[in-house]
Amino acid sequence: MAPPGDKSEASEEAMVAEPEQRPISTIVIIIAMQTEALPVVNKLQLKEDPDSVFPPGVPWVRYYGTYKDLNINLIWPGKDPTLGVDSVGTVSSALVTYAAIQALKPDLIINAGTAGGFKAKGANIGDIFVVLDCAFHDRRIPIPVFDLYGIGLRKACETPNLVKELNLKVGKLSTGDSLDMTQQDEASIIANDATVKDMEGAAVAYVAELLKVPAIFIKAVTDLVDSDKPTAEEFLQNLAAVTAALDQAVELVIDFINGKRFSQL
Ligand code: ADE
Repeated sequence: MAPPGDKSEASEEAMVAEPEQRPISTIVIIIAMQTEALPVVNKLQLKEDPDSVFPPGVPWVRYYGTYKDLNINLIWPGKDPTLGVDSVGTVSSALVTYAAIQALKPDLIINAGTAGGFKAKGANIGDIFVVLDCAFHDRRIPIPVFDLYGIGLRKACETPNLVKELNLKVGKLSTGDSLDMTQQDEASIIANDATVKDMEGAAVAYVAELLKVPAIFIKAVTDLVDSDKPTAEEFLQNLAAVTAALDQAVELVIDFINGKRFSQL
């Protein structure tokens, strides 16, 4: 064993130090749709993992690489094995978040993706939001305390310097497993005081909190859910352009995080 104060021991200590005491090193980015994920993969020059860290047979895909001083892992839940469409929604996102944290032990989770926005709360198409907190809007359990469990309110990792430096909008996120919005969903989203609505965030937040990994949520607005346009149509119309804005924002966020500790975010 090296004597106390030996250089190699000191650097080893630095590597195992709590994430608060050293720069953030390993990041897991969770992105649900291939269209959203691939531009980020290309921008950060990530490679697909040929030896999956996930159980055999699952469609989950890991792209990885070193970007500046960071180990980046981007996880895309892949295509539904039967139907061949992206595995969007809370079930797949919770599963991949769990599996990625277990396999990769990240310091930080970033959930990035598109979202619906409320123009009444100041959202516009193409806006990028950093999320303050996440809750569910389609888990109605009208029994005391179970009601709060259903809502599942969780705070995101605080990033005041990132928000200021990158001049991003901030708002609350409400998550459900539907792209459209029933009247009951709308009432819950209003009760959640949300500006953006997605299909993954609160599920990622649940798993990240269980396993004590801080999480950041970056959401790009493809459609305004309180406008007259049908949501699915507006979403598909704006997906490509907004995805370009999202991948730029993710790169800027990663650039900002590089070399910083949590307290500097
Ligand atoms: N992703 C993009 N638009 C969305 C919406 N309106 N609801 C849920 N997720 C979305």
